[in-house]
Amino acid sequence: MAATGKGAELKPEYDRLSALKAFDETKAGVKGLVDAGITDIPHIFRRKHSGKEIPVSGDSQVSIPVIDLGGLIIGDSGKRKEIVESVREAAETWGFFQIVNHGIPESLLEEMKDRVRRFHEQDTEVKKKYYTRDPMKPLIYNSNFDLYSAPTTNWRDSFLCRMAPKVPNPEDLPAVCRDVLMEYSKQVMKVGILLFELLSEALGLKPNYLNDMDCSEGVAILGHYYPACPHPELTVGTTEHADNDFLTVLLQDHIGGLQILYDNKWTDVPPHPGALVVNLGDLMQLISNDRFKSAQHRVLASHVGPRVSIASFFCTHLLPSTKLYGPIKELLSETNPPKYRETTVRDYTAYYISKGLDGTSALDHFKL
Ligand code: OGA
Ligand code: NI
Repeated sequence: MAATGKGAELKPEYDRLSALKAFDETKAGVKGLVDAGITDIPHIFRRKHSGKEIPVSGDSQVSIPVIDLGGLIIGDSGKRKEIVESVREAAETWGFFQIVNHGIPESLLEEMKDRVRRFHEQDTEVKKKYYTRDPMKPLIYNSNFDLYSAPTTNWRDSFLCRMAPKVPNPEDLPAVCRDVLMEYSKQVMKVGILLFELLSEALGLKPNYLNDMDCSEGVAILGHYYPACPHPELTVGTTEHADNDFLTVLLQDHIGGLQILYDNKWTDVPPHPGALVVNLGDLMQLISNDRFKSAQHRVLASHVGPRVSIASFFCTHLLPSTKLYGPIKELLSETNPPKYRETTVRDYTAYYISKGLDGTSALDHFKL
């Protein structure tokens, strides 16, 4: 048991590793703790206070832009220019935006959220079979991918499934969400390819540039589940971080709790029915030589739950890769020299994972 009150000073390093192992070995995640009826927050989940708390934005008028992609389907080139301009502005300032009229039917978005919830709420014994920390398994379900490296355990369970470049064998996917994962990933890939076109144009490059660079080659889908938390102020749903990919397309439910760091304040990303949240990852910041932002973001824990979100990461992660990514040559000049050294996606990802979510940026490690 964790020491409390004054005793905590005498036992600052309680046996965290044993506590983490015991939690991991239950294979039942945070949901397992909640199901068992805990009312206290175990020590491993307790947030460390750094002393310099960042304020939360009180201005509800300040929010990431919502971009309507509807005009693209009509094929109006004036509209496309306007959209590219909005994407450029959002990518350079916020690193985040929401999209509506993206082409994925609302019924599929609803089905996806429902099936991800059902994966996490299925019989624990069935779910346990998928519990693993082996990154090469077709479906990786666990609680906290960085359990053993991060300073604070998050109030969240997740599964990860790589959907591209190699389409998984449906038999390897859990029956409760197999069909919808296959369908949603197909559609989200189309959206991703379109976003990379718009982002290429926003950088002044030809539309296929980022897709030709294989930014959309790999897609991994994460199904997050944030159980209701008895003391949300003591822990966190997801520690502040920037994403380790080129681009993330996030489907969040109606509960909220996602915040991004903007103007040095935590700013809510309000749920918008039918919308997808788009954010640029570290690899995009790296290849754009800091023109596009990979913004820090976090998810608060909440009394209300479960909260479900689905993040589609455009990245090949730990798959073997030899291709080197550095700042795009066309964007460089004497006044804009490269800020990063080249790296493979795999090396970058391995570094990110080994560091864990600790509130610092993995990009610093690749700065020249
Ligand atoms: C992530 C992430 C946010 C959310 O998966 O990287 O930031 O709302 N998710 O779950
Ligand atoms: Ni993220």
